[in-house]
Amino acid sequence: MLDRIIMQRIPLPFAVLMLFACAALAESGEDAWLRYARLDPHVASRYASMPTALVTLGHSSVSRSGQTELLRGIQGMLGRTLRIDIGAPTGPAIIAGTVEQVRALDASFDPPGNLQADGFALISTRIKGQEALIITGGTDRAVLYGAFALLRKIAQAEGISALNEAQVPSVPVRWVNQWDNLDGSIERGYAGQSIFFENRRVRPNLARAAEYARLLASVGINGCNVNNVNADLHILDSDFIAQLARIADVFRPYGVKLGVAVNVSMPKQVGRLDTFDPLDPKVAEWWNGKFDEVYRQIPDFGGVVVKADSEGQLGPSLYGRNPAEAANVIARALKPHGGIVFYRAFVYDHHLDWNNLKADRARAAYDIFHPLDGQFDDNVIVQIKHGPIDFQVREPVSPLLGGLQKTNEAIELQITQEYTGQQRHTVFLIPMWKEVLDFDMAVNGQNTPVKDIITGRSFHRPLGGYVGVANVGLSTNWLANQLALANLYGFGRLAWNPDLTAQAIADEWTKLTFGNDRAVVKAITNIQLGSWPAYESYTGPLGLQTLTNITGPHYGPAPESQEHNGWGQWIRAGHDGVGMDRTVATGTGFVGQYSPTVQKIYEPLANTPDNIVLFFHHVPYTYRLHSGKTVIQTIYDSHYEGAEETGEFVKEWQLLKGRVDDGRYEELLAQLEYQAGHAIVWRDAVDDWFHQMSGVDDQKGRVGRHPNRVEAEAMELRGYRVFEPTSWEGASGGKGVACSAEMTTCSAQTKFDGAAGLYEVDIEYFDLSSGTSKFKVLVNNHVADEWRADMLLPGNEPSADSSVRHRTKGLTLHPGDVICIEGTPDRAERAPLDYIEVLPLQR
Ligand code: GCU
Repeated sequence: MLDRIIMQRIPLPFAVLMLFACAALAESGEDAWLRYARLDPHVASRYASMPTALVTLGHSSVSRSGQTELLRGIQGMLGRTLRIDIGAPTGPAIIAGTVEQVRALDASFDPPGNLQADGFALISTRIKGQEALIITGGTDRAVLYGAFALLRKIAQAEGISALNEAQVPSVPVRWVNQWDNLDGSIERGYAGQSIFFENRRVRPNLARAAEYARLLASVGINGCNVNNVNADLHILDSDFIAQLARIADVFRPYGVKLGVAVNVSMPKQVGRLDTFDPLDPKVAEWWNGKFDEVYRQIPDFGGVVVKADSEGQLGPSLYGRNPAEAANVIARALKPHGGIVFYRAFVYDHHLDWNNLKADRARAAYDIFHPLDGQFDDNVIVQIKHGPIDFQVREPVSPLLGGLQKTNEAIELQITQEYTGQQRHTVFLIPMWKEVLDFDMAVNGQNTPVKDIITGRSFHRPLGGYVGVANVGLSTNWLANQLALANLYGFGRLAWNPDLTAQAIADEWTKLTFGNDRAVVKAITNIQLGSWPAYESYTGPLGLQTLTNITGPHYGPAPESQEHNGWGQWIRAGHDGVGMDRTVATGTGFVGQYSPTVQKIYEPLANTPDNIVLFFHHVPYTYRLHSGKTVIQTIYDSHYEGAEETGEFVKEWQLLKGRVDDGRYEELLAQLEYQAGHAIVWRDAVDDWFHQMSGVDDQKGRVGRHPNRVEAEAMELRGYRVFEPTSWEGASGGKGVACSAEMTTCSAQTKFDGAAGLYEVDIEYFDLSSGTSKFKVLVNNHVADEWRADMLLPGNEPSADSSVRHRTKGLTLHPGDVICIEGTPDRAERAPLDYIEVLPLQR
């Protein structure tokens, strides 16, 4: 009512403008790339001749989704309401239907391409003498994909008046995995609670799950596994199957099949058998009965994913059986119903002997699965992580991808950024995945890029595909970082067509998500394309892997944590040199798992590319790379360059103020600023650690020397006490200060001794999850800035995970001024501080 009263008093043109302004402000990212924002009238006029009637020939829920989407998209982008017609068109029309359905209207209809299964075509033609824009395909789902493709074209202002194109997906299996737990938490999820589960039940409201299926369908994803691969034993309890059926119901209208992760020990642990030996007939019978029950309630159930004998999960090894035997017993129970088993090759011993120089986790998948090639049933797909370790910032391609010729394969890619900044850092992963997909495994001396192996083309396999670990959550924009959604989008687009370039995907996603303003598209694409190289540079260059805290949250820098444990993510950094010798001649022999052609790249040190060299070779710090620089200087430089580049992203983004809606502008600005600060934490922690390890100084004199920095422990402290973090590289100078338990406010001050001028002051502090401290910056007792430490970061102690930079800009300082940081602790968070840095104002 209030709205109406206000609107009545405002002249109409202003009211319309305000509506647009408010809509622009209100963007949250929830609509992702399906915004259907109104096109500029000039652009919209290009679609004036598009038919205004829509005929949908199919009657399934999938066909209805296509119709609804076309209505919604055209209404949103062009402000036009399509008229729904039934039967043969009597005037110009958009006609959506399978090839068969269109042929029933006009027997002469002959679409381009071979439209099997999910392939679709968009064609401008005449049907029964009437002008028609046909969206067609092999199935209702294909037609839905075609509808999304047409809308994508309009959103990008592409011409659609003379369409005649067909698109066929590269692979039949294009799935995402969610690692959701039944209590609503998500393993390695960084965007809120589960959209599927809460309190060990399927959520009553599945609206977000339905929206998710819509997003997935819009990029051709046709299956979703909804629960953690560390599977809950009760996921297939009878009462839970009925609940899962509700998820399948909201997936179905978008052609997304439901799958779940199962635990191979279920027959014993919840099925009350005395064994889960896959070769025991009782066990086979248990799985048969279980899937009969599942398919009675979910007739189009897609299948299951299995993690076994890995990271504490029980597996067939308990009975001396192998993964093929474990996979096949489940596959045979699924087979009559058309279901598939994704058996994960992520099987390894996490109690490796660090002292054994031949021990190598990277070898595990190939050693275990290669001998089983040909033993998996044809509805089993071995799901292989793209690298031999675990989604690191850079790894070589898993040799197992080239090591199975008589087995179906799916590549597992990680959309959720577990080791790549957990969505607090922007890292566009498509270029990394492209490198993997394009890598030629040279199997049997033939050209066999990974993308051809997983399509089944190289070895004539009937099944194959892509699995992306997505982990979207209830966070409004699904992944809690506006730019991270490009990874989900790009995953779907690549699975559909791995030949798309990273640039094309970034451009396309940006146009759909932020509009067609060229400056916006250019800047965002630049940031996206620069983000993985930058992240690699400030985390783990030269094939060192991410160098994060691997026994903790996998987030901030903690190089020491790689070593001296059983997990096998070793970098073997000593005082003499660094890198893991994986050669056949002197190392673990891992290189021998590749084809002879690939071995020639990695076995000789001289042939190994710089960017992966330390994954394969142990070399002295002074070893000169192909670049001409030493290893140690490259480590130093690359951390500085990466951090600097990340600072540039902030500046590039700032140029877009006013060109993107304020909501997303501010949110991303905060994210990129935080990232730029954290990149410096990474830089210093890793460079300092290598400085100490190698004893070699930085030629450029930066490492360990920070002329503008005043360590908190060196400031004049009131109430603050000095502490040492658990790992010394977690705080600058190995020390920080925290407010004593009895104090309500503490302060750290220093006298400014630089020249008079305009400065910015960076305050590095620690933001723990146990409280929300407040900070103030005072200059000569006048408050210049204040903020709250309210970020949600991993860890509950001051460390590189919780280290945050706050920038106070535009401070006029004179020699002798007193800069004071005042901290007000909150509960266990004692307003901890690391240092301040006083820098001449850059802008
Ligand atoms: C990583 C991750 C685990 C996950 C595992 C997997 O190790 O840290 O949380 O369970 O991968 O892929 O199974």
